Amino acid sequence: MIGERNRIITIANQKGGVGKTTTAINLATALAAIGERVLIVDLDPQGNASTGLGIERRNRKLSSYDILTGTHTILETVLETAVPNLFIVPSTMDLLGVEMEIAQQPDRVFRLRRALSGSDALAFSYILVDCPPSFNLLTMNAMAAAHSVLVPLQCEFFALEGLSQLLETVDQVRRTVNSSLDIQGIVLTMFDSRNNLAQQVVNDVRTHLGEKVYHTLIPRNVRVSEAPSYGKPAILYDLKCAGSQAYLQLASEVIQRERQRKAAA
Ligand SMILES: Nc1ncnc2c1ncn2[C@@H]1O[C@H](COP(=O)(O)OP(=O)(O)OP(=O)(O)O)[C@@H](O)[C@H]1O
Ligand SMILES: [Mg+2]
Repeated sequence: MIGERNRIITIANQKGGVGKTTTAINLATALAAIGERVLIVDLDPQGNASTGLGIERRNRKLSSYDILTGTHTILETVLETAVPNLFIVPSTMDLLGVEMEIAQQPDRVFRLRRALSGSDALAFSYILVDCPPSFNLLTMNAMAAAHSVLVPLQCEFFALEGLSQLLETVDQVRRTVNSSLDIQGIVLTMFDSRNNLAQQVVNDVRTHLGEKVYHTLIPRNVRVSEAPSYGKPAILYDLKCAGSQAYLQLASEVIQRERQRKAAA
């Protein structure tokens, strides 16, 4: 059983470049701005969430690698970010080797879950886990540790392709290591209103997935793509841009749905 003191959300899609990390950074920042206490766990060896939040490599002495190998706790690895209320466990390239290192261990899928169970003292209300674009042991750890999966889907022709595989994987995780894993929601990213196909994709996704799809559409926005090179979330880099405003709206939708879920429980 995963604790109920916070909401642990894994951001996953095995497709590359669909907006997982951008969503992790900006949703987390928006939640923190609204007053939530938020942790990002960067579980991708690329370390884009860490870089995008301005954590320089030389400051990543301890990382998510150390919590997966079990040598350090969340309390020891967590770093502050420039955003008040937002913290991160950064990643390093060491993560590339972790799969080999723990592959033979019977608890290899539960390493992150165990580490997060020791984070209560830090009183996070949301923990967002940024995954690599693959169904590897890192993503499995993230799914085994979470209450739910948030799926960013890029508004493009092949958006639905791969989604069925993702949903099957979530089912498989439910049957094996985490029976209560839920779909938090599906967020459509990089929407371009000038592209006729994009609206068609939105309609198709809503028809197929209904209520699970957030009303908020994240627009394709150049300010959002520029922000990481300054080590800042878009919301700090340019609060007024359409992308930042969309992520703030997404955060309020996430919070509103959480209230409804708790009321129904
Ligand atoms: N709303 C947006 N508007 C413009 N560019 C965006 C937007 N969202 C993401 N991008 C850009 O698209 C690229 C891919 O985004 P991102 O890194 O978030 O995807 P990802 O799914 O995490 O990728 P990976 O699978 O490699 O981890 C990045 O260059 C990012 O800056
Ligand atoms: Mg990423």
